[in-house]
Amino acid sequence: MPDSSAIYPGSFDPVTNGHVDIIERGLRVFDRIVVAVLKNPKKATLFTTKERVRMIQDLFASKKEVEVRAFDGLLVDFAKAQGTNVVIRGLRAISDFEYEFQMALMNRSLAPDIETFFMMPSVNYSFLSSNLVREVAALGGSVEGLVPGPVARRLRQKLGGSKKSPKSIKAG
Ligand code: PNS
Repeated sequence: MPDSSAIYPGSFDPVTNGHVDIIERGLRVFDRIVVAVLKNPKKATLFTTKERVRMIQDLFASKKEVEVRAFDGLLVDFAKAQGTNVVIRGLRAISDFEYEFQMALMNRSLAPDIETFFMMPSVNYSFLSSNLVREVAALGGSVEGLVPGPVARRLRQKLGGSKKSPKSIKAG
């Protein structure tokens, strides 16, 4: 039987334990997973594309079934170039559904042979997003348990991470 493969695309700014959970679950289903890190010059990111790719590569250094690549352009074209016709997306909550549904159907209309495969992360991560992680880290909150240790360290390096005392500010 030929090896099965899937692509797992995202911004990964930065990769969280929810993403790691999805990759690990995906490995139970697929022989090979290509983690595709979006390089979008129009979207400002905290970590450069190179840094985002590197962090995920380091986390999965011992797993040759996980490849990490940067991509730009259409996801469906990149999936084909990687020799796969399955796109994995994580679904955390109903609130994710509408955006994911639109994206899956747009991808299907662009490339009918590509299938989107939705996976649910552990309930422990159902509230977790890279956006919130960046915000908490920037305000000096703890991201322990939300991102892998090396990612937490990179966040501290980037953002300082000193806790600010809350103060009231004048409105208006
Ligand atoms: O982690 P994100 O930001 O939710 O990931 C979004 C991503 C990278 C999957 C999506 O923006 C994407 O596929 N971009 C590539 C451009 C593309 O193919 N657009 C048309 C599909 S809707």
